[in-house]
Amino acid sequence: MPLHLLQIAKKLAHDAGKLALEYQENGFKVESKGGVDIVTEADKACERLILKTIKDNFPDHAILTEESGSIGDPKSEYKWIVDPIDGTVNFAHGLPYYCVSIAIIHKGIPIIGVVEAPALGEVFWAKQGHGAFCGKRKLQVSKTSHIQKMLFSYGYPYDRKDPVRKMTHKIAYDMHSTCRGVRRLGSSALEGAYIAAGRLDAFFHYKLKPWDIAAAKIILEEAGGIMTDMNGALLSPKNGRVLASNGTLHHDLIKVIKDHGGDLIN
Ligand code: IPD
Ligand code: CA
Ligand code: CA
Repeated sequence: MPLHLLQIAKKLAHDAGKLALEYQENGFKVESKGGVDIVTEADKACERLILKTIKDNFPDHAILTEESGSIGDPKSEYKWIVDPIDGTVNFAHGLPYYCVSIAIIHKGIPIIGVVEAPALGEVFWAKQGHGAFCGKRKLQVSKTSHIQKMLFSYGYPYDRKDPVRKMTHKIAYDMHSTCRGVRRLGSSALEGAYIAAGRLDAFFHYKLKPWDIAAAKIILEEAGGIMTDMNGALLSPKNGRVLASNGTLHHDLIKVIKDHGGDLIN
């Protein structure tokens, strides 16, 4: 792997994060993408900045981003997966819980993940086989082994008519009465990084997109956690069903989801 890829990914996430903070300071336009799904001027500007640097430095790399979709040769050995701002609703309301998420995939295998939360002053990153870090601090998932002691978070897609919302509420409702705490934080990438840091124990979400979780996945796995489909199988970009945990809790969580029929719903 070219050594400088990690440095460039980190610099890009940092520069885009700085730009997002400037928009937060100076104001920005908000547009609807349909329903309650929104995009801000900052999302677009951060994405433009990231895309330009990738294209200038690596013209033969493929790119997948939230706002521009697929770019470049799909057969390229390298693919960047970018969410310029994950947690746009938080960003638009001035909540600091949002991040820039950048992953690099090499021949189908995630090799680098960077999740920078500019308003919180933290950067989570990982390189395949070298562990996961927050700044310089090495990350390790929690040791929580009982659902009763778990701090759990979840999210759901913007489409209010989507049946997975009902399923999500059913499972989250159950969690409210069985575990220590349930949170709805609003940035899947950051939630994955928080499990890596041992701040959360687990997270689930239907219909996530690759850009929501690609960087968080490698950070979490390098910190000892697991990210799978709702039944423990490999993630599928087709349905985006994501269960992430410290690993120890995974088996029990799959059972809870299965008991609700949540492993079958798409
Ligand atoms: C969203 C966030 C949120 C999740 C949504 C995603 P965005 O990404 O990750 O936590 O619940 O499903 O779309 O729109 O802020 O990039
Ligand atoms: Ca996102
Ligand atoms: Ca986004």
